[in-house]
Amino acid sequence: MNTAKDFEGEAARFLEAWTRSIVERDVEAARALRTADYRCILPDGRVITATEDLAMIVASQIDIRQLRTELGSAYANGGSASIRFVLSIGLEDRGRDALNGDMKLERQGGVLRASALALTNTYNDTRPAVGGRIKRLLHRLTRRRRAARPPGFQEMAYRPYQSGLDYRLPRSQPRELVYEEVDLPLPPPELWLGYNYPRHGRLHVDTMWQVLESGGFMIKPGDRILDLGCGAGRMIRHLAPLARTCEIWGADISSEHILWCQRHLTPTFHFLTNTKTPHLPFADASFRLIYCGSLFTHIDDMARAWLLELRRLLADDGCAYITIHDEDTIQQFDAMEAPPTVAAHIMRTPSWAQSKDDSDMFTIGRDENSQVFYARDWFARLLEPMFEIVAIRPGAYFYQTAILVRPRCPQGATATPRAGQSGGAA
Ligand SMILES: C[S@@+](CC[C@H](N)C(=O)[O-])C[C@H]1O[C@@H](n2cnc3c(N)ncnc32)[C@H](O)[C@@H]1O
Repeated sequence: MNTAKDFEGEAARFLEAWTRSIVERDVEAARALRTADYRCILPDGRVITATEDLAMIVASQIDIRQLRTELGSAYANGGSASIRFVLSIGLEDRGRDALNGDMKLERQGGVLRASALALTNTYNDTRPAVGGRIKRLLHRLTRRRRAARPPGFQEMAYRPYQSGLDYRLPRSQPRELVYEEVDLPLPPPELWLGYNYPRHGRLHVDTMWQVLESGGFMIKPGDRILDLGCGAGRMIRHLAPLARTCEIWGADISSEHILWCQRHLTPTFHFLTNTKTPHLPFADASFRLIYCGSLFTHIDDMARAWLLELRRLLADDGCAYITIHDEDTIQQFDAMEAPPTVAAHIMRTPSWAQSKDDSDMFTIGRDENSQVFYARDWFARLLEPMFEIVAIRPGAYFYQTAILVRPRCPQGATATPRAGQSGGAA
């Protein structure tokens, strides 16, 4: 494949041909654009083959003349390539309805072919009318072909890479150990998690160091550091110089992000995919610093259990740096005249208006893409049995507040003295 930049035009032409073949119900053209083992994951998790996909194009009752696609990003690296696009369809009564498409491409005999497509919801489709129409139509069209597949252990436990599909990692050369962030590659935009990946990572890491310093905490040679919920390494990469003397780990439930990190940021850092179960496969007191940038913004019921796990993993003289949405975030959102996309999405939901002024915590959405807000004193109560708050910095990570905590020793002591006790706080 050619370079990422050259690839964009070719990807746009591919997507145009792919869309035209569907709109014109041109099954032969559509077949030629798919590999024989092509798989498509529908928004409800069912997987269909190329034959089933082509049959759907023919049988479709959707007015596919209204189908449009818009290329978001295109990325080629060595023998593999991927594109991300928005697929939308005009509805008589409600404007357009949209889904996200993530497509893997292969070059076969000089021709690009799609080997896998995953269709997922757009942000907007928490509004009942939007996104639902295409999903319902796809469901109706495919239900006779394959019984619904309930999520397996993998999907429930973490985010498997190319779920439901066989996959391979092309053979690669081991990378050199580098200690400069500039020598580390950037991930493809589809792994940026909605951030401007290259732009703010350093700022967020610098702010973290300032808060740690204000709490009297210094990293020492030989320390272990964990970035929990590391994504594609937006923050961890800025720790590269520390890798000379420290062992630095990143963990995330998204295998796709972890696979990219393992193949591009190791051996400077080490990575693992973890499950949503609040347990990580490290020994007690393994780390002196654990940081979680915008992780607890997606964790609701399991927050206490994860905090207990962080306490177990931290050395007694260690600390944890956690960012949350809190009342300061709410105030900032309310004051915005033109909120950015995610904030605008949050503020449009009924839960926002119902919950923002008078809640210990509230969630918008209920999976790992949810947005969770904590009243700061409620989060402090969650922390209390295991941690002591050392510093609080509003606005440390975009609109999020950072909370720096250190373990209470011995673990499990509570801050509130009980009758007959001299006091629990260390
Ligand atoms: C908003 S992103 C932040 C990514 C990264 N910390 C950064 O600052 O760029 C949240 C990340 O947390 C991950 N995540 C969500 N729940 C998790 C869990 N229970 N354990 C580990 N990672 C989790 C998501 O997959 C995602 O990569």
